[in-house]
Amino acid sequence: MYIIFLGAPGAGKGTQAANMARKLNLVHIASGDLFRQALEQGTELGIKAKSYMERGVLVPSQITIDMVLEHISAPDGEGGAVLDGFPRNLEQAEALEKALAQQGKAIDKVVYIKVSKEELLKRLSGRWICRQCQTPYHAPDSPPRVWGKCDKCGGELYQRPDDTEESVRKRLEVYSAETAPLIDYYGRVGKLVEIDGEGSEAEVDRRITAALGGER
Ligand code: AP5
Repeated sequence: MYIIFLGAPGAGKGTQAANMARKLNLVHIASGDLFRQALEQGTELGIKAKSYMERGVLVPSQITIDMVLEHISAPDGEGGAVLDGFPRNLEQAEALEKALAQQGKAIDKVVYIKVSKEELLKRLSGRWICRQCQTPYHAPDSPPRVWGKCDKCGGELYQRPDDTEESVRKRLEVYSAETAPLIDYYGRVGKLVEIDGEGSEAEVDRRITAALGGER
């Protein structure tokens, strides 16, 4: 099973994709997390991605496509995956479709999480993430048990450098111009499931689970 999570920056894709991957026992592949991990490790990929991420623009598609397809074809991605932040434009969507078709596979559902701009800004300005495992927290809505430390792995929490006002504005512009057209694209092929992303994490999770036909 392959599920894509689509939505604007801060819509809750990472939060909900991680929940769904756990419930369905699928690997969670988040392109933004992969770039941030590469950056933390100081790899060539991380160094290449850094300036694009800081500016809030997309990393060139071929770099991103190669990185994500490598994870999809890894042994733990064979049974399916929850994709978060990828694809992000038509070029990436077509490359994904082609790569899956070559293995006799296809995308099952695309979960589009819809959230107002006001709520997006509130979520991004209060977000803290774990430097090690990338789990997101929110001050004051969903803080960790011990301030500054990740509940899951004890890693240090930090605020993303691209969550500044200027970078968020740019990310929202890029989302409208390049990623939002995917809503129509997947709608036309009958794969899109639109979810109201406002409300608590648990409420949104229940809506997604119901829309996907319950936990399988
Ligand atoms: P990426 O990391 O993918 O960032 P994004 O798409 O901007 O999305 P976010 O991670 O900001 O938000 P989210 O929707 O995952 O929300 P979250 O669950 O964290 O990409 C970063 C950069 O990498 C890009 O700008 C680009 O440069 C590059 N990149 C990545 N993928 C790429 C690609 N495919 N092609 C090219 N470049 C690419 O939630 C946000 C906050 O809200 C958290 O604090 C969370 O705790 C809180 N929250 C979540 N749900 C709720 C709720 N229901 N109620 C209250 N708070 C909530």
